[in-house]
Amino acid sequence: MSDRFDTGVAHPARRYNYWLGGKDNFAADRESGDLLAKSYPAARIAARANRAFLGRAVGHLAADAGIRQFLDIGTGLPTADNTHEVAQRVAPESRIVYVDNDPMVMVHARALLTSTPEGETRYIEDDLRNPEKILAQAQILDFDEPVGLILVAVVHFLPGQEQASAIVRTLLDALPSGSHLVMSCATTDFLTPELKANWDESLRTGRSDVHPRTRSEFDEFFAGLEVVSPGVVAVSEWRPDPAATEHATPVEASIFGAVGRKP
Ligand SMILES: C[S@@+](CC[C@H](N)C(=O)[O-])C[C@H]1O[C@@H](n2cnc3c(N)ncnc32)[C@H](O)[C@@H]1O
Repeated sequence: MSDRFDTGVAHPARRYNYWLGGKDNFAADRESGDLLAKSYPAARIAARANRAFLGRAVGHLAADAGIRQFLDIGTGLPTADNTHEVAQRVAPESRIVYVDNDPMVMVHARALLTSTPEGETRYIEDDLRNPEKILAQAQILDFDEPVGLILVAVVHFLPGQEQASAIVRTLLDALPSGSHLVMSCATTDFLTPELKANWDESLRTGRSDVHPRTRSEFDEFFAGLEVVSPGVVAVSEWRPDPAATEHATPVEASIFGAVGRKP
């Protein structure tokens, strides 16, 4: 392993993997996950609700919006129903570029590269804070054709709203009409004052790196886009699957989700 790969420090991808019940995590990630779950008991339910939203939203893009190219930044460790699997089930010719800044995701990237023969997948190790660099490396995407930009549970790792907004704008500006943004982002808007105070305290004391957004901050990311039905809602409320066995309440999910189309 390279020295960039520090298993003694918790990392969001591995902590999320732990919450989802995966095996690709270390003691530091589990400790951090348990600590955060103390101030936010629904963390595991929220992780599952978020993952399910990703699947439904990518399914919508592929099946209903005809999207055949995806730029998925903040991919996470491979697990069930990765973006390319959902998209290629609908349209085998789909092309997907994955981007994550965790070296551990790179180690497991082989599982993200199991494309259909008709389609293609690529993995880039980079940081969302370098949008121009990411766009320059995403050569398998044709920027004259609509792209699905997937920013699911990643923007809340950027503390500054202004910076995050500018990054999303840079990415969207590079995409043609008909492109879609799928985004989810943690929020404390649904929480009781007590849970909200817990969350704020976790951030203040450095126990959390998840920077929630208010509804109006989340809306900012969708400026100029046509937000598709049902609009901005808790991820669990976004076109819920009637067959699902678990349905998180907005308080449990505490993550906004939405899909917007670039006119
Ligand atoms: C909570 S996981 C979400 C994974 C997947 N998008 C999903 O929703 O199931 C967040 C992912 O974003 C990645 N990440 C966090 N900050 C990032 C950044 N600045 N640039 C790129 N990836 C980042 C983490 O490594 C992690 O894999």
